[in-house]
Amino acid sequence: MGVSMATARTWVERWECQQERYAVDREERFTVIADVVEHAVKGLTRPLLLDLGCGPGSLAARLADRFPHAEIVAADMDPVLLELGRTHHADAARYVDTVIGAEGWIGALGLDRPLDAAVSTTALHYLSEPVLLRTYRSLAALLRPGGVLVNGDHFPPDVAACSELTAHVGRRRSERTGGHAREDWRSWWDAAAQDPELADLLDERRRRYALHACSGGDEQVTVCRHAALLRRAGFAHVAPVWQFGDSTVLVAVMGGTAEATPTNG
Ligand SMILES: C[S@@+](CC[C@H](N)C(=O)[O-])C[C@H]1O[C@@H](n2cnc3c(N)ncnc32)[C@H](O)[C@@H]1O
Repeated sequence: MGVSMATARTWVERWECQQERYAVDREERFTVIADVVEHAVKGLTRPLLLDLGCGPGSLAARLADRFPHAEIVAADMDPVLLELGRTHHADAARYVDTVIGAEGWIGALGLDRPLDAAVSTTALHYLSEPVLLRTYRSLAALLRPGGVLVNGDHFPPDVAACSELTAHVGRRRSERTGGHAREDWRSWWDAAAQDPELADLLDERRRRYALHACSGGDEQVTVCRHAALLRRAGFAHVAPVWQFGDSTVLVAVMGGTAEATPTNG
């Protein structure tokens, strides 16, 4: 069920444009996430990073460019997007086909040492609060002391009175940068369904989604609720480090040694 390099490139490039519709200042947000990772892995010879809900490897590829010495594991449940990532960004990461939060997903990652950072973009909003809590607990157990979880996503506003204002600021930014005019999610998948090279992968995707009843929706968990769940899961410190409209980078830090110990690797 592989795809050619040319096909993977076409769909990944089109994916990158489509996602700008959903993430205000997406490229800057990737950069901010990498800045946080840089701080967390300073001095490490071979940091271990995990990308949750990697899609076609968008964040993993950017991290691989910035940290060529890192080992990156990228996890997702979508066979189409995983195959596009495996083909187009083959060297960026080791891609793992698994359902985050489901039974056995941690074992599927095949990790042999503590994580230095877990990262994610535009993905954790799919998870319900109980699944998020379970996932955060698992990640807290996997991260080394001082390790970080860095989540860039869109979050509903915590203060209802400001929700319209937050949305307006994001919308305006999106208009200025052209994000609002990008192709939408539905149109990308409808177009992909016309590509004969993706037919088998799309059949597999339909089969999986029927099995896992993946909502594909937005669970509307606020930054405050995420922070509460992260603290309950064992993270010592939680703070947003960047925001534009509803687009936010939320960072959670494990307790223990705050600085990376340069013995890793
Ligand atoms: C909107 S895409 C974002 C992909 C990529 N991180 C990016 O920024 O372009 C969300 C991704 O999360 C994945 N995802 C959602 N829930 C998941 C779960 N429970 N387990 C694994 N992957 C999941 C989807 O399959 C999809 O690839």
